[in-house]
Amino acid sequence: MTLADWPVLIVSGEFSADSNEGHRLRELLNELKKTSGCSVISAASYEDAGEIFSSRADIGCVVIDWDLEFEQHSEKMTPETLLKHIRHRNSKIPVILLTDHLETENLPQCVLNRINDCLWKTADTVEFIAGRIANWVKSYSENVLPEFFGKLVEYSERYKYAWHTPGHLGGQGFLRAPAGVAMFKFFGENTFRSDLSISVPELGSLLDHEGAAGDAERNSARVFGADQTYYVLNGTSTVNQIIWRSQVLPGDIALVDRNCHKSLNYAMVITGATPVYMIPRRNARGIIGPVRLSEFSAGSIKKRIAAHPLIADKNQHIKMSALTNSTYDGVCYNTGAIFTESCRNEMIKNFHFDEAWYAYANFHPVYTGHYGMAAKDCRHPVFCSQSTHKLLTAFSQASMLHIRNGSERQIDPVLFNESYMMHGSTSPQYSMIASLDVATKMMEDNGITILGDIIREAVQLRRKMADLERNLHRNGDWFFSMWQPPTVKYKGNSVEFADCPNAYLAENQAPWVLNNQDNWHGFEDIEENYVMLDPIKLTILTPGIDNSGNMLDHGGIPASIVSNFLIKHNIVCEKTDYYSFLLLNSLGTNRAKQGSLLAALFEFKKLYDSDTPLESVFPELVRSYPERYGSETLKSHCEAMHNYFREHKLIELMHRAFEVIPTPAMLPVEAAAHVVRGNVEMVDVSAINNRTVAVMLVPYPPGIPVMMGGETVSGEANAIAEYLLAREKFENMFPGYEGDIHGITRERRGEQTIFRTLCIKK
Ligand SMILES: Cc1ncc(COP(=O)(O)O)c(C=O)c1O
Repeated sequence: MTLADWPVLIVSGEFSADSNEGHRLRELLNELKKTSGCSVISAASYEDAGEIFSSRADIGCVVIDWDLEFEQHSEKMTPETLLKHIRHRNSKIPVILLTDHLETENLPQCVLNRINDCLWKTADTVEFIAGRIANWVKSYSENVLPEFFGKLVEYSERYKYAWHTPGHLGGQGFLRAPAGVAMFKFFGENTFRSDLSISVPELGSLLDHEGAAGDAERNSARVFGADQTYYVLNGTSTVNQIIWRSQVLPGDIALVDRNCHKSLNYAMVITGATPVYMIPRRNARGIIGPVRLSEFSAGSIKKRIAAHPLIADKNQHIKMSALTNSTYDGVCYNTGAIFTESCRNEMIKNFHFDEAWYAYANFHPVYTGHYGMAAKDCRHPVFCSQSTHKLLTAFSQASMLHIRNGSERQIDPVLFNESYMMHGSTSPQYSMIASLDVATKMMEDNGITILGDIIREAVQLRRKMADLERNLHRNGDWFFSMWQPPTVKYKGNSVEFADCPNAYLAENQAPWVLNNQDNWHGFEDIEENYVMLDPIKLTILTPGIDNSGNMLDHGGIPASIVSNFLIKHNIVCEKTDYYSFLLLNSLGTNRAKQGSLLAALFEFKKLYDSDTPLESVFPELVRSYPERYGSETLKSHCEAMHNYFREHKLIELMHRAFEVIPTPAMLPVEAAAHVVRGNVEMVDVSAINNRTVAVMLVPYPPGIPVMMGGETVSGEANAIAEYLLAREKFENMFPGYEGDIHGITRERRGEQTIFRTLCIKK
């Protein structure tokens, strides 16, 4: 990286003026570029400068010409407000006033305490001014790099001859054959020169948490509010297993959100834990909500333990409790409420919050108190797993594991590291470590601004959707809607969401907290101040079902059809339910993306309303199944699928299937042992009644395990087989809409697709 990678932003109205000042300014630009090696971006107004500064994080220094009369003095942006804006977004960037007439004593304090330097245009030579600006850029850019990443860059720029792994030795190995050359050219030399081995002492040791790698972890702990932080390079799937491996032993009881990721289910397998499940609430549309706060009460825990057929010692405590926070649909828990409830009974010895999709929460006040590391006075240790790579900025699989010690029990790092090492490679990827280091620095330096921007933009989109829907409804027309409160309390009044100021919604938690009085969310008996909706997780609702679960007779639009359409417009949804789909905002989201989304939704509406032949909308689908779909229009296609859902009561079946926790015949670890021994067989789902499944079955939607390995399909749990068969029938009726169901293998028999799963041999 050179100085030119960090452009100097100069704001002045005199760039092309035919005056002495204009002339000096052009000389300065020239000198900066030619002699000092800087690059320059010029802004002709304070407003432009503000815009440029908001949209570019690579500015290395801002020079503000203070004296000159700007031709268009914007009412919105004055020199003072520009300074404030810059400082709000970046507290460290050097800001220099370029002035002539203004005496220092005339500068107000609000200016003086926001600038780094003042240069007198005529008192100094152009060379001197340019050199001084270049120095500021240099010292700023040198401090932009966090320590580990900085050392990695420094090391790879030393051009050492390597005699260690990885065997491509800084990329040289790839140059021996054309395929390798292609790879080298595609990824670029730096990728390979920074791909190092643990034999490089300068960068420390991740497995021992020493040197630069250990310092980076300790810095992340400070920034993310943890007592200890570990970088895990195999994703949060592995983070979850490290946490469990460190605390849970065979026979220990774990209190687990049934809505948990499969890696947690595997954590139960590898630790031999006995899971006791908490069932999350679901609304009529099937959106997954929070588990009840009472699940953490002594009464509820004891009842579940008493009813569990595989727990002999009914007086055991809970070794680990695990919650998905936030849920996929963006429901975030007030963790303090959970600790308070649990403290009353002391039954839970470790808390685990799986925050795979929520690593940003402690960087914005909207989320105050609603994340695991917010735990201030918990008696027992709190663990958080976060996929930094999912919604922050890190390479795929780069995750963090945070621990906050309890006041009563602390986690010994030496003991904990045994579990860490059990799951870690002895050849860590250094760029992944650097990406975690950088993600930390970004959040520390600019987290609140970055998140503020993302939340504001998400809120803008939410308000826009609400406004569009309202206007179209007024004219008897339809549109998609957002899963969000239709009205919010603002200054003591109830105002429609679309009319509530953006700033209020984007900066306050209150409008997002779910309550019982205004049940727009559809969850029953929501506890006071217990959960909030994450403003940046956007669930869009499609017509077809109301909040009470009543299905429309006509006009239903299944969400999978809309999300397939969006994919054609290069908009990929995170999750699709029956009548809703989820879009995530992340650090990579920008305003243009939101515009494309609205345009694509309107395009869908236009094609639907005009009864466009399906062939024009989904040509590949019709080409693949001409007999089935050849005569359909987009509208009739939606209608046919909606009617199918309604007539076959698919949503009702799904609700029934997920309400039951089947009786466990054995622990997940025992079921896994049957798999290892080969004591399992494939069984048609139509024949799984009274059978014990060997693996977990997780249908998407909704992405919750409907069966865990070791559970038996019998009694009430027959509803599960019924639901799976309804899904099988649906797929046969609607080819091209095969859903994802982990644990199900599809077999073609004649014209039919048959669902099969692995059961333990009788
Ligand atoms: C709740 C939850 N936990 C853990 C994971 C695993 O994360 P990773 O992909 O980082 O292994 C996921 C992945 O989707 C998840 O949704």
